[in-house]
Amino acid sequence: MSDIRFRSVRKSYGDRTVFQGLDLHIRSGECFVLVGPSGCGKTVILRLLAGFETPDEGEIAIGERVVASPRHAIPPEDRRIGVVFQDYAVWPHMNVEENVAYPLKMRDVPKPEIAPRVAQAVDQVNLKGYEKRLPSQLSGGQQQRVALSRALVAEGEVMLLDEPLTNLDANLREEMRFEIKALQRKIGATILYVTHDHDVALAIADRIAVMDGHGIIRQIGTPEDVYENPADPFVCRFLGVSSFMETERRGSAQVLRGTDFVLGTPPDRLGSPSEAVAAFRPMDAVVSREEGPLGEGQALGTVERVSLLGPIVDFRIRIGVQVLRCQVQTEEAVARNVIFEEGETCVVSFHDPKWFSAAESGIEEA
Ligand SMILES: Nc1ncnc2c1ncn2[C@@H]1O[C@H](COP(=O)(O)OP(=O)(O)O)[C@@H](O)[C@H]1O
Ligand SMILES: [Mg+2]
Repeated sequence: MSDIRFRSVRKSYGDRTVFQGLDLHIRSGECFVLVGPSGCGKTVILRLLAGFETPDEGEIAIGERVVASPRHAIPPEDRRIGVVFQDYAVWPHMNVEENVAYPLKMRDVPKPEIAPRVAQAVDQVNLKGYEKRLPSQLSGGQQQRVALSRALVAEGEVMLLDEPLTNLDANLREEMRFEIKALQRKIGATILYVTHDHDVALAIADRIAVMDGHGIIRQIGTPEDVYENPADPFVCRFLGVSSFMETERRGSAQVLRGTDFVLGTPPDRLGSPSEAVAAFRPMDAVVSREEGPLGEGQALGTVERVSLLGPIVDFRIRIGVQVLRCQVQTEEAVARNVIFEEGETCVVSFHDPKWFSAAESGIEEA
């Protein structure tokens, strides 16, 4: 078993407490992605786990073994963890094979054992045939794979990846996501992957933890769960573009503030608030042309901005005093004749907003 546990961990630097009372359980064999804004403490978590930092309070265990507490720390090389740090580049003067062999040499692994393990690790990242090349003779993605391979060679049951795709271009980033996922299935390692990029997180995670700028974990769940049922407005906003519309109570329903437009009924957990916030993803609202009287669930809006983002058209639509981001697939937008001019009137209809109380909507910027 190589599950990972943080129990009530605190880490401070001088006056700055990065996090305290941090509890985290990463299951054996899962790909767990921690996402959060820059500076929230993601790298610190990995450094604690890898053994480059010591917790001020609490303990960290891998399987049954406590690897770190304020009184006791197992040295990094004895934790059997593979690490790929964003700024932990490959050695420029060593070829692929030498780079991958490096952690084994550092650990005084007997020479005859090194070659087959390196060959296997190189093969796992599809770099066979490139063993003698220097990093300067490789593409960015290939260099990144060398770093991955070097993490793999340790044959740790745990791999830590710190924004390993940040320096890659978009196409490569997408490709590498799949490779990391495939690799994980192949070797069955427990992966802790940290990033500020919610797209990567949603794509590769078995489970995601969303951390805020104060080092507090707001929600843990599957990608579907945290995306579809965000626990609070911070999570909702962090995981993708969202519009927050203020509503007020009218009878048993909530209307868009300052209009008669009924947005629906908030869930029971909110009680019956006089004010609530309805959050929408850009694809949750449907825009269409005005044709005759408004139907139920439709509101009139003014198109303030139209941007063509390749496969999607992005609109900013004003309804009363509030502004909504709305997106339509370009193909569909053309077919339905909704490529509006700025200033035109449109009809917006909504489905399934995510509801938050006005109090919790003190929306925190990342
Ligand atoms: N060695 C250090 N000394 C002082 N402050 C540090 C140190 N390492 C990290 N920090 C602080 O801890 C916070 C979290 O940093 P980090 O984990 O690197 O954030 P990120 O989530 O972007 O990876 C930041 O405010 C950073 O300034
Ligand atoms: Mg970092």
